[in-house]
Amino acid sequence: MRAAAYTGPGRAAEVIGFRDVEAPAAGPGEVLVRVGAVGLNPVDVKIRAAGHDFGAIRYSDRPGWDVAGTVVAVGDGVTGWAVGDAVFALARFPEAAHTLAELVAVPAADLAAAPRAWSTAQAGAASLAALTAWQALDAAGIGADRDARVLVLGGAGGVGHVTVQLAKARGALVIATASPAKQDLVASWGADEVIDYRDESALAAIGAVDAVIVTVSDTLPPRGAVDAGTAVITITGFSAAQEAELRSWGADPVQRILVAANGAQLAEIAALADAGRLAVHLDAEFGFDDLAAAQERVESGRVTGKVVVIVDPDA
Ligand SMILES: NC(=O)c1ccc[n+]([C@@H]2O[C@H](COP(=O)([O-])OP(=O)(O)OC[C@H]3O[C@@H](n4cnc5c(N)ncnc54)[C@H](OP(=O)(O)O)[C@@H]3O)[C@@H](O)[C@H]2O)c1
Repeated sequence: MRAAAYTGPGRAAEVIGFRDVEAPAAGPGEVLVRVGAVGLNPVDVKIRAAGHDFGAIRYSDRPGWDVAGTVVAVGDGVTGWAVGDAVFALARFPEAAHTLAELVAVPAADLAAAPRAWSTAQAGAASLAALTAWQALDAAGIGADRDARVLVLGGAGGVGHVTVQLAKARGALVIATASPAKQDLVASWGADEVIDYRDESALAAIGAVDAVIVTVSDTLPPRGAVDAGTAVITITGFSAAQEAELRSWGADPVQRILVAANGAQLAEIAALADAGRLAVHLDAEFGFDDLAAAQERVESGRVTGKVVVIVDPDA
């Protein structure tokens, strides 16, 4: 089968190629998926450029973690999945998963039924971003039983745009930051207030919130948003000095999370999609042959919603 493969670390246009490799089989506990669409994430481009593991995140010269497609075989011990099912997954993360290929073997525990409300492209784009948003809100203690104020720093990106919608679905009042050109879109995803991330006075006027979800690098929440007990969850990380400063303001917990594959949570995410409460905004769709251009789009840092690669439009 045809699979994307890197020739080594470096620039997308120089190192991204394709190889004919042996097709995988569905091992015990796995499902073989004919790949329709694969979402790209900043981690894909960072790890390609570096060519080595990032902490727990495994480098492979065979990329891809997100996937949506059709079940073509089930391995021993797998129940609940049958040939022909439309599925989506964040496969194996943070281990390597090799989803950017015509076929991929995915642990059944990582899979969920693709939402009927979404296209294959949307389902393929969603998993890593949506699970990150889900797990960040969990870490912040934002459950459906809580009437919370949530600040999303970076409401327009892949993770941010799902975080806004999931926080709304959990009953929160949502304040999000975005550049002026993206503010209407972020409001359309349900944000109650959208603030220009360069507008210092508007940022300073945000009152204390229950939780801040940080989806952009090198960004501290505004001082006024953090009170004793404000949960500050970052997906990009804080320096030791930033973390100490947040704690001195009373933030608790201050936590960095790393997303983990989780089919059960994806099923809950799919249910929200089918209830019309969660959409995936596609910034751009690329063909499989245009994987380098797709990665360059992610690398621009200007993506609104998600970038997705269509591996097989018929899968
Ligand atoms: N820990 C984890 O498990 C985990 C999981 C997923 C992602 N991540 C990391 O989290 C980060 C975000 O991922 P992503 O997929 O959401 O990225 P993304 O889609 O590439 O984010 C791009 C968006 O960020 C916006 N943006 C840039 N600077 C901003 C600022 N200062 N304030 C507000 N918005 C800003 C951009 O808007 P403009 O173009 O208008 O500036 C753009 O819409 C990446 O560093 C990624 O590696 C971590």
